[in-house]
Amino acid sequence: MNGSQFLKAYENEFNVKVRTPAQDNAEQIINSILYNLFRKNPDGMAKTRTFTEIQRRLSEQRVLEPTHITDDQLLKQIGAFAEQVTQHLVAHLEDYQTYEAYSPPVELLAECNVDIGWLERAVGQVCQRPVAFSGDYSLLRYEGEGKGRYPHVDRDVYHINLLFLISREHREGHTPHDFYYYDDAGERHEERLTPGHAILFDGANTVHGRWLSDYSARTLALSFGFRPI
Ligand SMILES: [Fe+2]
Repeated sequence: MNGSQFLKAYENEFNVKVRTPAQDNAEQIINSILYNLFRKNPDGMAKTRTFTEIQRRLSEQRVLEPTHITDDQLLKQIGAFAEQVTQHLVAHLEDYQTYEAYSPPVELLAECNVDIGWLERAVGQVCQRPVAFSGDYSLLRYEGEGKGRYPHVDRDVYHINLLFLISREHREGHTPHDFYYYDDAGERHEERLTPGHAILFDGANTVHGRWLSDYSARTLALSFGFRPI
């Protein structure tokens, strides 16, 4: 099914009309549907026909199941880089505090002495296939009540998404902005990363999100985009 067919199936299943981009952009259409499904029924979303169809199509294209990075050297390298980028941004970006997702220019990587070739080889090893850095990376900052992300799929530049947690403020009894994803059976998996740890997943073909926090939690993460080659 292409994006328009998903949309028709969704509208028929729920007898609704959805506003979507004019173009048949599958990623944007899927995200509009997910947003609507989740808003309506967060717990029942994964049991709908439309969601099952979306999952079936995504799983055909998926190149990697979510995998925790266990290679200490890789984690150390990413951690060192995350620290450099954060410091650089805090120092050079006047309105840094207002950003939720910021994609710095790729030139910053050279200033921060990141060996992209090394990173590509290390990520490729985890994926068991060669990968290339897409040129896109983001500093993700969630701060405050109600912040987080609805279930979605990523743009193609995050086909293989390396998500590294820089810091996380957690309070017992409350909802932090923790990452989760859905497997093909519609089960939701919560991944409580601790700072300094990372997960690698197919961002374009895995429905994922972050809990909307119910208190003034703070989470800072860095995401790198790769593509299979
Ligand atoms: Fe995402």
